[in-house]
Amino acid sequence: MTKYTEPKYRTIHEAEAGELEILKEKVTGSLWKPAFHIHPEHGLLNDPNGLAYFNGAFHVFYQWFPFGAYHGMKHWAHVTSPNLVDWERLPTALAPTEDYESHGAYSGASMEVDGKLYLYYTGNIKYSAEDRSANQCLAIMEKDGQVRKYDHNPIIEGVPAGYTGHVRDPKVFHKGNMYYMLLGAQREDRTGAIIVYESKDALNWSFKGELRLDLDLPDSCYMLECPDYFDINGQDVLIVSPQGLEPKQHDYLNLYNVIYALGKLDIENLTFDVTSYQELDKGFDFYAPQSFEGSKKERLLFGWAGMAEVDYPTDREDWAHCMTLPRELDIVNGLLVQKPATELKQLRSESHSGSMTLDSGSTGLHSGFHSFELETTMESRGAEVFGLELFASETEGLVLAFDRSSQTVSLNRENFHASFDKENDLVRSAELNIGDSVKVQAFVDRSIAEIFINDGEVVFTTRVFPDNQSTGVKLFTDTELTCSYTIHQLKSTNSL
Ligand code: FRU
Repeated sequence: MTKYTEPKYRTIHEAEAGELEILKEKVTGSLWKPAFHIHPEHGLLNDPNGLAYFNGAFHVFYQWFPFGAYHGMKHWAHVTSPNLVDWERLPTALAPTEDYESHGAYSGASMEVDGKLYLYYTGNIKYSAEDRSANQCLAIMEKDGQVRKYDHNPIIEGVPAGYTGHVRDPKVFHKGNMYYMLLGAQREDRTGAIIVYESKDALNWSFKGELRLDLDLPDSCYMLECPDYFDINGQDVLIVSPQGLEPKQHDYLNLYNVIYALGKLDIENLTFDVTSYQELDKGFDFYAPQSFEGSKKERLLFGWAGMAEVDYPTDREDWAHCMTLPRELDIVNGLLVQKPATELKQLRSESHSGSMTLDSGSTGLHSGFHSFELETTMESRGAEVFGLELFASETEGLVLAFDRSSQTVSLNRENFHASFDKENDLVRSAELNIGDSVKVQAFVDRSIAEIFINDGEVVFTTRVFPDNQSTGVKLFTDTELTCSYTIHQLKSTNSL
């Protein structure tokens, strides 16, 4: 059969002379280039892959199309850090040069085996624009950082009976005497599923079956991508990125969404009994997150701060997206909470603190920093509607509003010159128990804000593309409100 070709299916080895340098300059010169978020050197970044703390260093790989702001031939890019804040780019970890990965080295996860980091990923195969298959593959990273594809790839050839070619994103783990692999899949009836393989040696895998996951997802859900599994103090957690969910009140308003389920995994019997589940992040730009064990055995997570099929203002500069900050996960009162990793305190430089009481209207708290962390506690002495504006100027502002009567918090990004065009991409909201005070911790970095409310009970990840002078932080309220705050300027520590 002749290989299906399209110009976007070429590897970085086929770059023309000078092509990558031109693309790189567009990112370097961009007003919206983040200072401390992992972002692509050029081209498009999507899912985090293969996350690990391995041999004394953090490793983040990510889905990468080097040639522009669109989804083409996916590579695994590689960055490393001793401390989760200073990042260094390493050579491309995986370029899809082999027949078993002819249309991309798709997402996957890592696992340490015998002192080496095993990187599992999906070899994407396209027969035509519509028709595809998938192989599961392995690459092995040595302690010296060399990555080599496994000689006997693929480790799983094709897809099992009953599923379409959409089988991908291996998540691997060790339990009892066995290794297990979860894969996102699509049944032949075009509904989403998670399937399981098992192995005694992490190299030879056999199909075990489909995981029974009582999530009561609608039939409109046509694919489950990027499954992730871990436990926190014995409580099992499953994170998955379903496609095709219908919007429901405050939930699933993005084109694609992420949910987490708490419950009990019985992998031997292929069941995950769900006790509760909900959307993981309430922002506009969050997808395909992946977790891993950090240096202190804590559970860390990175997500892709982006959304497929949405046009972003940086598309015009031929690059797109960034990673979220690393977040530490915990379970508090039956909720999976996300907090910025403690290592991020190393980014802080100059700090300003203050406290003020505002009767009504709005007032500026600070301006002039493009990359900063804001910590505030707002005590609403009767205030019904109050909140903060980030990236604020005369004409722009990202509005975070708390509404006591409806017990909701909302985030509105319609006030930017370089904006998004679909209604769903402009306002998001979440239920929140608004008591006497609300805590907000926000990380702002040129074109991204990550907002953690009440110690990570609700989190909004959002991209915005402000003018250069939109650096203000404002406070607003309808009636009396007291606000204490600290703003830390954050260093641009990485060489990315
Ligand atoms: C999720 C995803 C994965 C796939 C990868 C390809 O964003 O679609 O399912 O492996 O992106 O880049």
